[in-house]
Amino acid sequence: EDASGARVFDLEIQSGTTALKDGAETETWGINGAFLGPTIRAKRGEEVAFAVRNSLDEGTSIHWHGMHLPAVMDGGPHQEVAPGGDWAPQWTVDQPAATLWYHPHPHGRTAKHVYRGLAGMFIVDDDTSEGLPLPSEYGVDDLPMIVQDRKFNGDNQFDDQGAFMSMQGFLGDEITVNGTLGPYFDVSTRLVRLRLLNGSLSRLYNFGFSDGRAFSLVATDGGLLPESWETDSLQLSPGERAEIVVAFEPGETVVLRSLPADEGYSGPLGRFNGADDELDLCEFRAAATLADETAVPESMGTAPDLADAEVAEERSFKLAGFSQINGESMDPQRIDFGVREGTVEVWEVMNNDGFMHNFHVHDVQFQVLAVDGGEPPERLRGWKDTVQLVPQREYRLAMRFEDYTDPNLPYMYHCHILAHEDAGMMGQFVVL
Ligand code: C2O
Ligand code: CU
Ligand code: CU
Repeated sequence: EDASGARVFDLEIQSGTTALKDGAETETWGINGAFLGPTIRAKRGEEVAFAVRNSLDEGTSIHWHGMHLPAVMDGGPHQEVAPGGDWAPQWTVDQPAATLWYHPHPHGRTAKHVYRGLAGMFIVDDDTSEGLPLPSEYGVDDLPMIVQDRKFNGDNQFDDQGAFMSMQGFLGDEITVNGTLGPYFDVSTRLVRLRLLNGSLSRLYNFGFSDGRAFSLVATDGGLLPESWETDSLQLSPGERAEIVVAFEPGETVVLRSLPADEGYSGPLGRFNGADDELDLCEFRAAATLADETAVPESMGTAPDLADAEVAEERSFKLAGFSQINGESMDPQRIDFGVREGTVEVWEVMNNDGFMHNFHVHDVQFQVLAVDGGEPPERLRGWKDTVQLVPQREYRLAMRFEDYTDPNLPYMYHCHILAHEDAGMMGQFVVL
């Protein structure tokens, strides 16, 4: 704690090496270590303060993905930290319990920085989440899983070349979970909660198990669902998170996989963008006896409530050609529009290309009101800050801009396929 009562976290962004493939040392970047960053955890109502130091020899930033906070604390391209420089953001956490994450956001270089290893989880707790019987012992029955694809060159260094014929840029053939290749987990409880984060540059994952078992989706980007939803596969595009609860039998071994994608591409483009790939992500090895003290409760979070809200403004966003939204690429000097504090807006978002994009908005969580005029699929019914855009479908997103006006400093909205974001598929808005 500092004098103001805020909880202080020291974060040093640094470079180093990590033993990855066949034990060889790979050059990696990390936060408070050589590879990836620590899980940050705070409770709603708590004031958090960060002492960020950039020990790299190039500028970078730390953006708090999914967090509601003042634009000056957002860590986007306008808050770059110079090499050797410091940054001290501070805010009060005020949003429901959720699995958020943090990663760099320097203009045009986000893909490189995330790929090298700058990413971590940010877990928000609240009274509701702490009172539920869900598995919640960190590292025991409540696991963060930062899922990333990587590729190694002959010298066992990260290769970041775009994939053959890919419209999305990089696609790796090896998976790291929390920075580990070939990971496994020793299961000691019947129910395990997995906090899944697609922390990849461009790969879509369709999470499922080797035996096709069902699991419960309990939370999406912005927090707990009102009720869990049973499924045997769950698609997450880059930047999206989900919390799932899986049941295990004593003594069994099951593999969490990425299955071929259900949707997201038109025609043969899918194959060159990884849609047909099947990848093993993590092996779960259950002990001979499993503790059984947790449950998936009947009711959990609160349902998004913007369907009947008074709408102050409707806007339309068309993503096309790798690098443009509404015909323009990102220009840090151009503010695209201002939204009014305290109002609800509906944004109609459409992917006009034949390959995948997604759409992320800073500062807010949105409700997916409709997809192509119909009810959104179950997996999109909770609060979201990033949504996959299947080509040629129209997504209606409702969001409320509560507070934190700033006429000069913008928040971003963009495609979270990082090659597209870096190429300029991003815009900026201010809250007035
Ligand atoms: Cu996860 Cu603007 O980013
Ligand atoms: Cu973000
Ligand atoms: Cu895109």
